[in-house]
Amino acid sequence: MHLLVTGGAGFIGCNFVRHILAEREDVGVRVLDKLTYAGSLDNLAGVLEDPRLKFVEGDICDAGVVEAAMDGIDAVVHLAAESHVDRSIISAEAAVQTNFVGSFRIFEAARAAQVERFVHVSTDEVYGACLGEPFAEDDPLNPRNPYAATKAGADRMAHSYFVTYDLPVVTARPSNNYGPWQYPEKLIPFFTWRALNDEHLPVYGDGMQVRDWLHVQDHCRALALLLDEGRPGEAYNIHGGNERPNMETIRLILDELGKPESLVRHVEDRPGHDVRYAMDASKMRALGWEPRIEWESGIRATVRWYAEHGEWMERSVARGKAYFEQWYARR
Ligand code: NAD
Ligand code: DAU
Repeated sequence: MHLLVTGGAGFIGCNFVRHILAEREDVGVRVLDKLTYAGSLDNLAGVLEDPRLKFVEGDICDAGVVEAAMDGIDAVVHLAAESHVDRSIISAEAAVQTNFVGSFRIFEAARAAQVERFVHVSTDEVYGACLGEPFAEDDPLNPRNPYAATKAGADRMAHSYFVTYDLPVVTARPSNNYGPWQYPEKLIPFFTWRALNDEHLPVYGDGMQVRDWLHVQDHCRALALLLDEGRPGEAYNIHGGNERPNMETIRLILDELGKPESLVRHVEDRPGHDVRYAMDASKMRALGWEPRIEWESGIRATVRWYAEHGEWMERSVARGKAYFEQWYARR
């Protein structure tokens, strides 16, 4: 299999590349990644030397780059995105370009190349806040922040390419991932970094918003399964079974690091903050998948991983300096 992984130098991408190289001997992987602030070759340490992996630096919004990257490819896992909600609130521009226009370019090139398999990675955020029963795949999409809206646009565009052009797209809708190599703007690595430096933890509002946590390795197993067995034209919810209010997650981080709860500071809420995400993953489970990594040991190991990778954290945070100063100036 000649596989193109977009966004392979980011958090989920680098974990997925490691996973697929370890699991499939017959695979050749081409990573296409722009190396934005969130992507780094550091993240691919240990696999970059693998002769089955080829790295291409380039922008998915550039039709020529995408067409060249698709040459000889028979399967695609599309992960590249501007993935942070808070950044999309400051400005939606980059998210609109990459998540919507860039995704369109990938669908278009995959159609021209007549790829045999295509996994499009969407998100649980496309459903919007969940105030009742967990969402099922056929529920209406109701994205409520700019990031989520661009992801919903790409999710539906992917489906239109299946319906209109028979592009064999399978859509994954995962919940909040955690694990190693996540850019430290996201809750778990960011708060670990702040706590390690004895800096206050800026909790949005009351911190009672609920997120479902899915270990990135469980997610990668699900994506690999969808690549083989997902039904084209269908969406699959990937839910970790760990719905937790943010304050509970934050207390676990502090406990693992031996830091006091007095570091918590409740600050101005994120505008349009979704109070809860929840999905029914029975369709995914019917394929034989279930999460394996237990939540509390998983998050404790993740926190330790960040504590042990201080230099990686420092280099990563440095790339986002302007953003951190702007967004957290009043928080
Ligand atoms: P990330 O921000 O860690 O990585 C994104 C990668 O995409 C980076 O390597 C970046 O350099 C690359 N990229 C960005 N713009 C690009 C462009 N224009 N051209 C080429 N490459 C570009 O993101 P992540 O957390 O790994 O998320 C991967 C995918 O999974 C995204 O589509 C995201 O929406 C989705 N997702 C993430 C989560 C999560 O909890 N992290 C949950 C659900 C869905
Ligand atoms: O649900 C899937 C989504 O999960 C993905 O599609 C996104 O790419 C990914 O970034 C993530 O989005 P969230 O907004 O849920 O993740 P984040 O880590 O930014 O925030 C998690 C929760 O923590 C959320 O309720 C906001 C809160 N939070 C976050 C930060 C960074 C705070 O209270 N303070 C903070 O400083």
